[in-house]
Amino acid sequence: MQLPDTLAHVSLTDGATPLQEMPRLREALMADGRPCPHLYIKRDDLTGLAGGGNKTRKLEYLVGDALEKGADTVITAGALQSNHARQTAAAAAKTGLAAHLILFETVGYDDPAYSMSGNLLLDTILGAEVHRQAKDADASAVFEDVTAKIRASGGTPYLIPVGGSNAIGSTAYAQVFLEIQEQGDALGLTIDRIFHANGSLGTQAGLLAGRALAKGGPNVEGVSVSKPTREALLEELLDIANQTSERIGGDPVTEDDVHVDFRHLGDGYGLPTEGMVSAVELVARTEGILLDPVYTGKAMAGMIAAILNGEIAETETLVFLHTGGMPGLFAYPAEFTPK
Ligand SMILES: Cc1ncc(COP(=O)(O)O)c(C=O)c1O
Repeated sequence: MQLPDTLAHVSLTDGATPLQEMPRLREALMADGRPCPHLYIKRDDLTGLAGGGNKTRKLEYLVGDALEKGADTVITAGALQSNHARQTAAAAAKTGLAAHLILFETVGYDDPAYSMSGNLLLDTILGAEVHRQAKDADASAVFEDVTAKIRASGGTPYLIPVGGSNAIGSTAYAQVFLEIQEQGDALGLTIDRIFHANGSLGTQAGLLAGRALAKGGPNVEGVSVSKPTREALLEELLDIANQTSERIGGDPVTEDDVHVDFRHLGDGYGLPTEGMVSAVELVARTEGILLDPVYTGKAMAGMIAAILNGEIAETETLVFLHTGGMPGLFAYPAEFTPK
């Protein structure tokens, strides 16, 4: 099954990313004779653009749209350590666009590395113009100001929403849902669930739109790293999912399709948890795969906890969607330094 080929798109990847088994993680989780489902990982950290991640996929559609509309500059926003901002800077560099990143000091993680290393360092190397803002800055006023200045200097700006999460960006994750199914079929797998980090909602919305287009398949299990409750995200998530579904000609996504686990957020977005640190270290030490501290570490903590709590049958096959973010590890050195 394919998405419509009329959607604006620019190629930033080398095609499908690998779907790999995680036998040593499974073995570690089976210590003491505990049952464990079969574990696979979809390597969207290997999209191949300046550190990779899920935003490369979304940006293939968003930058495609920007170029179709004649833009020469992209503007986006996020937290100081935004992976989306770093990937936007890279996508802009690769396609010859200018990039303006409006980055807010929202997280309140007090380590000098957080405000100079990791993604932030890469944004500058990639040539983006960074507009650093205090936590309480008026986001729409800053957006208007940056946009007006670009126009005044003769530029044509294109606004990419936070996280690339609208129907255009989420189209990419409908495509990834189909790609996972195709790769699972080729390996003879029946995949029961796809686990992933849920931040600005676009990845989950896209996966659900892909599932609706395919008329079924694995359950999509988001682990929230940003919104604290189901009420806080349901309406917006369904909106993006259904606009995406409409764009690709799929069936509606309903409330019953939405599964999100809120137990692994800890004190908030970007704030480390013990579960995140243990999950990052366990996956690194069993599979040689680096997760990240803000998204995939917490999502993996959620998948591991669901397995260890007996919420998943041992006959199931799970896919963990690795959405990237590894540069973020360098913003949190204290969490991973032996005490
Ligand atoms: C590494 C990583 N994983 C997951 C996500 C979450 O994706 P979404 O914002 O589409 O929910 C993000 C978003 O920034 C991310 O950077």
